[in-house]
Amino acid sequence: MIILGFESSCDETGVAAVCTERGLLAHALHTQVAMHASYGGVVPELASRDHVRRVIPLAREVMRASELSLSDLGAIAYTAGPGLAGALLVGASVAQAIAWSLDLPAIPIHHLEGHLLSPRMASPCPEFPFVALLVSGGHTQLMRVDDVGSYTLLGETLDDAAGEAFDKTAKLLGLGYPGGPALAKLAEQGDPSQIVLPRPMLHSHTLDFSFSGLKTAVMTRLKDALLQPVVSPTLQADLAAATQEAIVDVLVAKSVAALVQTGLKRLVVAGGVGANQSLRKRLQAKLVRLQAQAFFPPLELCTDNGAMIAFAAAQRVQRGLADLGAQGHGFNVSPRWDLAQI
Ligand code: KG4
Ligand code: ZN
Repeated sequence: MIILGFESSCDETGVAAVCTERGLLAHALHTQVAMHASYGGVVPELASRDHVRRVIPLAREVMRASELSLSDLGAIAYTAGPGLAGALLVGASVAQAIAWSLDLPAIPIHHLEGHLLSPRMASPCPEFPFVALLVSGGHTQLMRVDDVGSYTLLGETLDDAAGEAFDKTAKLLGLGYPGGPALAKLAEQGDPSQIVLPRPMLHSHTLDFSFSGLKTAVMTRLKDALLQPVVSPTLQADLAAATQEAIVDVLVAKSVAALVQTGLKRLVVAGGVGANQSLRKRLQAKLVRLQAQAFFPPLELCTDNGAMIAFAAAQRVQRGLADLGAQGHGFNVSPRWDLAQI
């Protein structure tokens, strides 16, 4: 079966075609980063309007690239939550309208399920069960994944997400939005040992995280520097490197603790922060010593995209977990939605 999938939960419009047998056929993406940059963060109303503008041209692009006609499609998938309500409604309404007009089933997908199954698009594909470290702009969670649809929360952040910690620190350092990639780039020139930052909850004996203290520590360090006429580029780079190291230290330690606690040997990393090269290198090195294996999505599919939504739907269809029966095409979106409840 070929599934056309739509992602519009935040500031990326993504569309993709995935075949249950052949995998990803084509995907197209538009990121709104440039549009939101001058506001220092996502403006929900602007996000919704831009999704409206982009979604149909992107769908046409995917149909062209995969050489599909509408009659080839077997189902339409879309992100039903969590995310920005107005933004979610764009993808949901377009997907439901297409499904209704073609008399196809529509499959609502949880955004985080999309992220955590996305490493299964790469080769080698992680077999179940595995531990998933979900690190996005809004979420930091460790989950035990026994199969598609079988997710147990092991631990999560009590305040800021890891991506948020990257973004907020980057903002303090004047690196613009979204700050994660910019902070990671600046960190390459810095020396993390020059500045001591806290490793929140590192020794808490739980699998929970807390990152909000990190930005406060950076702010305090910067306040002293701001009394000088200019903040030195060396200090900026050292702060970026120290911040990245503190976040990565905690993510690596908790991921290892989750593997030990569950007795599992496979760790899947998903979500935008999964693109961070320092995290990738440190986890890989650590896991080799534990005779465990780390899996990452293809780099371009770490951040939000339509491929992970169409792919999650395909995995649900293959296991008989998607409702493919007659549907009314009325729909809801769930801006707040716990993955453990699906
Ligand atoms: O998964 P995602 O695209 O969107 C959400 O669902 O939130 O993740 C976006 C987050 C942002 O916080 C962004 O700064 C962070 O991922 N990010 C990175 C990197 N690339 C994206 N953080 C650190 N290093 C990166 N290379
Ligand atoms: Zn995401």
